[in-house]
Amino acid sequence: METEKKSLTSAEQMTDRDLSEQIKKVTMEIHTRAEKTELMMSFMRGQVTLAQYKLLLCSLYEVYQTLEEEMDRNSNHPGVAPIYFPTELARLEAIAKDLEYFYGRDWREKIIVPAATKRYCHRLRQIGKENPEFLLAHAYTRYLGDLSGGQVLGRIAQKSMGLKGSEGLSFFAFPGVSNPTLFKQLYRSRMNSVELTEEERNGMLEEAVRAFELNIQVFDDLQNMLLTVPEKKLQTCSTQSKPVNTLQI
Ligand code: HEM
Repeated sequence: METEKKSLTSAEQMTDRDLSEQIKKVTMEIHTRAEKTELMMSFMRGQVTLAQYKLLLCSLYEVYQTLEEEMDRNSNHPGVAPIYFPTELARLEAIAKDLEYFYGRDWREKIIVPAATKRYCHRLRQIGKENPEFLLAHAYTRYLGDLSGGQVLGRIAQKSMGLKGSEGLSFFAFPGVSNPTLFKQLYRSRMNSVELTEEERNGMLEEAVRAFELNIQVFDDLQNMLLTVPEKKLQTCSTQSKPVNTLQI
């Protein structure tokens, strides 16, 4: 891709003052914590179960629906426009496809999410309204994660759950990104092109750490849900008429 090629030069010129470097540095420790959550450890051990993966997809659906709605609504904002890549990155339709595969055509009535997912979405809506420039921190955390470790996790998940081909795994596939490494370089250079005051930059770094924290809380809540709520109860919840069922755990 032409755009991916162009990014190489900018990637080579990165400095310590670059947002992409700062954000990576400031989230390094919490990235390790995210990797060590029970849910991610299950992935890494090749032991992720269908129940875990299905619940994760439900939460990811809610998160990406909110993130992508807020990105779309703010797509002309100077802090969002440079990193707005809906064709290449949008995950919502892919997750919907996976949910239909696992839950059937009436998946919308069946999805359940823990309270932590609601809190994550609430934060996304809040910054979409009040500080749209901070959407970058959330987009970075999810999309660059999906294009990095997420690629390995997808292959592991396929094996662990004995899925045939790519069915149920659309979430991990980025057909619009031919070379994830080059695309990430382009993304970083776009992040670095956003003009921020010192105060905004500090706020952005804080928001990135918060984005990781919100993800960790979702993973932990999902794991607790699986431990504390019997399968039967999970199924009963799925028949409630609320648009999305929230379990307070
Ligand atoms: C980058 C692994 C979970 C967000 C990466 C990279 C690896 C990795 C190998 C590439 C590092 C590089 O290119 O320098 C993993 C593994 C995980 C995991 C094995 C779980 C078992 C997560 C989670 C998130 C996340 C849960 C966020 C919710 C990111 C981000 C990057 C990244 C944002 C890009 C860092 C940057 O280049 O600035 N991850 N990761 N990762 N990961 Fe993860």
